[in-house]
Amino acid sequence: MINTITILGGRSRSGIPEAVERIDLKMGDVVSIVGPTGSGKTTLINDLELFADANTQTGRRVLINGERPPLEYRDNPAMNPIALITQHTTFLSDLPVVDFLTAHAGIRAVKKSQIDEMIQKTLDFANQLTGEPIVLTSRMTELSGGQTRALLIADATIICNTPIVLLDEVENAGINRTRAMELLREYRKVFIFVTHDPRIALLSDYRIVMQGGSITKVLYTNEEERVFSLKVSKLDDLLSAMRDKIRFGERLTTHELEGLA
Ligand SMILES: Nc1ncnc2c1ncn2[C@@H]1O[C@H](COP(=O)(O)OP(=O)(O)O)[C@@H](O)[C@H]1O
Ligand SMILES: [Mg+2]
Repeated sequence: MINTITILGGRSRSGIPEAVERIDLKMGDVVSIVGPTGSGKTTLINDLELFADANTQTGRRVLINGERPPLEYRDNPAMNPIALITQHTTFLSDLPVVDFLTAHAGIRAVKKSQIDEMIQKTLDFANQLTGEPIVLTSRMTELSGGQTRALLIADATIICNTPIVLLDEVENAGINRTRAMELLREYRKVFIFVTHDPRIALLSDYRIVMQGGSITKVLYTNEEERVFSLKVSKLDDLLSAMRDKIRFGERLTTHELEGLA
């Protein structure tokens, strides 16, 4: 059973040793990776996915439970403990949702008797994340962006059921992020978001800060930020509501922000 994932620091793009020498990610942690474009966020995610062993451009190493991970993690897809969702992740299929999830559950060696229950659970999870309910008979290619992302996250969490889920700048539009964070916290996994979204960053336990290809610090969400995050979420909801009004050709008034006490 996986309890911790350790990142051992390597070097920055200019070859300087990373300021943070070691990070221990524990099961149950929700983590954000932040930093400007080009700061090395995707590279860090890739190091994790590859179980880097001083054999990538960063020189980082990744340990599982304090040791070098077994080779089968990398070599046997059914044993791989990591699910990676990127902006480019799509379902390469035009199957109805139910057939796709059934096939996927089959690959993940789920017991036949459990497949129906698992699919229902995945659908319920996804439908709590998106405002536009997905039905099992819809074709995968007909899903909206929000529905697709909701289904990808639900699929990674419930069907893949990997202990580590990486999300690289997955567009959050159309996803109920506060609900997503609540649901994810019910699972004993490590969730790592590459994000610029203050809402997700503040709902994370800590954020890994990147610059110049290097991890420069780890910021734990403090009490002030935790309390403030409620206001941030409210502001964010108000902004989404304004976006919708703009989209539907309505006018905005100065009252839009009144909900923000
Ligand atoms: N530690 C490093 N050493 C060498 N090259 C790096 C390092 N970190 C990132 N890079 C390179 O820098 C570029 C930008 O990194 P990337 O991870 O795509 O940034 P981000 O996802 O934050 O936009 C990439 O070409 C990547 O290969
Ligand atoms: Mg990137």
